[in-house]
Amino acid sequence: MGAPGVGKGTQAELLNRRTHACHLSTGDVFRAAGSRPDCEQSPAMKEALGYMRRGALVPDFTVWEMVRERRECLHCGGGFILDGFPRTLGQAQSLKELMDSEGLALTAVVDYELPVSAIVARLGGRRTCGKCKAVYHVTERPSKVEGRCDRCDGSLFQREDDRPESIKVRLEAYNRSTAPLIEFYSGLGLLVQVEAIGSPEEICDRSMAALQSRHVEAIS
Ligand code: AP5
Repeated sequence: MGAPGVGKGTQAELLNRRTHACHLSTGDVFRAAGSRPDCEQSPAMKEALGYMRRGALVPDFTVWEMVRERRECLHCGGGFILDGFPRTLGQAQSLKELMDSEGLALTAVVDYELPVSAIVARLGGRRTCGKCKAVYHVTERPSKVEGRCDRCDGSLFQREDDRPESIKVRLEAYNRSTAPLIEFYSGLGLLVQVEAIGSPEEICDRSMAALQSRHVEAIS
């Protein structure tokens, strides 16, 4: 969990490398659907992409359909990392019911905290690879060759919802709909709060240290 741009995707990728847990990002799934040809997008998906471009949350029903289609991820041998889901109390309750019915439980909910000024700077400089979805930052995590991905040489682009007017809507949606989950997961004894200041590797070390008390171990 964490506000838009706090570094959830970056941390999920680093945690995935260290723990080998499967990474499921609902934002990435929507963006992948958005890059399909128009004729392959269902009316519900087109509607969802409209919400996303404006920076608003996609309705719970559409998000839930998409997560349910990927429920086998919950049984990945190395565990799983949910990135950007759940984001509303309704989604959190649906997830809990699904996991209870599958005999599974969350190990922890990591909440990344960062001041708004730093969040805006991170979002404004973000660049994403159109091919492999790797995430860079123009000053903090630049690619070796400007505009090209280090991993696959794909071209880097700026996300449509990283425009200032969409960032404002996303922060409002976070404060209104997602921040209440902090209390929800704290009540379930699952919340782990991590300061998201410092380099991505430093924050990942901090996350792993906090998760070790919950028996999450790095795999070399
Ligand atoms: P989503 O893709 O999940 O976006 P988000 O939550 O707004 O988060 P971001 O991806 O913008 O940021 P992040 O925290 O992952 O940061 P990142 O690692 O990229 O969702 C997009 C949209 O999809 C939503 O607005 C909504 O419309 C829809 N959606 C998705 N899930 C939904 C759901 N469950 N319900 C309803 N709607 C849903 O880092 C940001 C930048 O900072 C990068 O450039 C990175 O390189 C840089 N950076 C990262 N860490 C550091 C660091 N330590 N120091 C300096 N720079 C850093």
